[in-house]
Amino acid sequence: MACFDAVPIQRGKAIADPFAGVATAGVHIVKRHSSFRGIEAHPLIAELSSLKFKPVDQLDGLQKYGVHLLSAMTMADIASEHPMVLRCFDEVTLSFLAGLRDEIESEPTHPYYKLARWALLATLRDTASVGVGWPYQRPGVQKNPRVKSPSSRFIMRLTHMAEDLSSMSGDVDGSVVHGDSRLAEAWANGLDGQKADGVISSPPYLNNFDYADATRLELYFLRYAKSWKEMTNTVRSSMMIATTQQTSGLSGVRLEEDLQNIKPIHSDINFIVEKLVIERKKRAKGKEYDRLVYQYFNDMSLILENMAMNVISGGKVALVIGDSAPYGVYVDTPKLIAMLASQYGFRLNNDQTLRLRGERWTGIQTRHSHTLSERLIVLTAP
Ligand SMILES: C[S@@+](CC[C@H](N)C(=O)[O-])C[C@H]1O[C@@H](n2cnc3c(N)ncnc32)[C@H](O)[C@@H]1O
Repeated sequence: MACFDAVPIQRGKAIADPFAGVATAGVHIVKRHSSFRGIEAHPLIAELSSLKFKPVDQLDGLQKYGVHLLSAMTMADIASEHPMVLRCFDEVTLSFLAGLRDEIESEPTHPYYKLARWALLATLRDTASVGVGWPYQRPGVQKNPRVKSPSSRFIMRLTHMAEDLSSMSGDVDGSVVHGDSRLAEAWANGLDGQKADGVISSPPYLNNFDYADATRLELYFLRYAKSWKEMTNTVRSSMMIATTQQTSGLSGVRLEEDLQNIKPIHSDINFIVEKLVIERKKRAKGKEYDRLVYQYFNDMSLILENMAMNVISGGKVALVIGDSAPYGVYVDTPKLIAMLASQYGFRLNNDQTLRLRGERWTGIQTRHSHTLSERLIVLTAP
């Protein structure tokens, strides 16, 4: 992919990703013998991606451990499961899945503990009897489970994980920390006080996609959160603001003097916000995209500021990011991010379209008619 050609990836170099996700970039980077340093705000996702870089001895024992768990577990009483979880499975399947979860949780110090937990999490959507295709969960829509036998699916997931992990060669140097890349401490922690030689990353798009909500089935099932409120407080709070669900409860549109962080794009943003306010007022329950764009670019600015301090001078930064058109108002996110970065000394080297997206909305009245794209912007660090 073009982003990997834009940043030199060589042995002895460390590449950072402040939005690591499941470490797609990270895996590619370590396989090319560079070091990888990721920061990810979602605690579950950070756990998953960090596992990819942790060598596990004797992976061939993993399947055997799975079989042991299946023989040791008992069916669980599901009365206290989260209501949403109860709606997603038939009783027998959920009783099995919860029983397996409890068995795994009973051995938290086992070397395969986290891998087993993830094999189970990966089995959930396969065996649900409602619409749970990634990312949206629709507990009200009945569907036949994709897979009938959760136990064999669990073993299959473990097998695939063992294969994936053994494909990582011995000298893998990668890590992902759970943190908020708007904060200096997350960078210090993620990079262990060193500077990165480059960055390859894909920030959240300004498209109202909620990474916490998208994983609520897994979060409730593992009891990371017991309610929507708890989920937003514990999981979503360290994520940069990219959805209108996150803006409610924040103080109103920032005042002129608070807008220093987005100074280079201030007038562009004001122009966009004025149009968004008009669109919101046309609707009975209009979403606060006008407030969101301020907060989104403000957060992005904080992250770019930290990036400038944590990447070596002359280091390359490749960002894969899409534009958007809330309520039909075009926001050239990649261009605006590049402009924001200039205030911290980054120079724009390249802005190229990787693919077109969103065409399917063209012509639908409630959507917009802009052809959106995913772009790669390449910057040089100050
Ligand atoms: C577009 S996705 C990146 C996907 C990634 N390339 C992958 O391989 O999965 C953006 C990611 O940024 C994370 N994120 C959002 N705000 C963050 C923040 N303030 N600090 C760190 N990660 C954040 C989200 O949880 C999400 O996983």
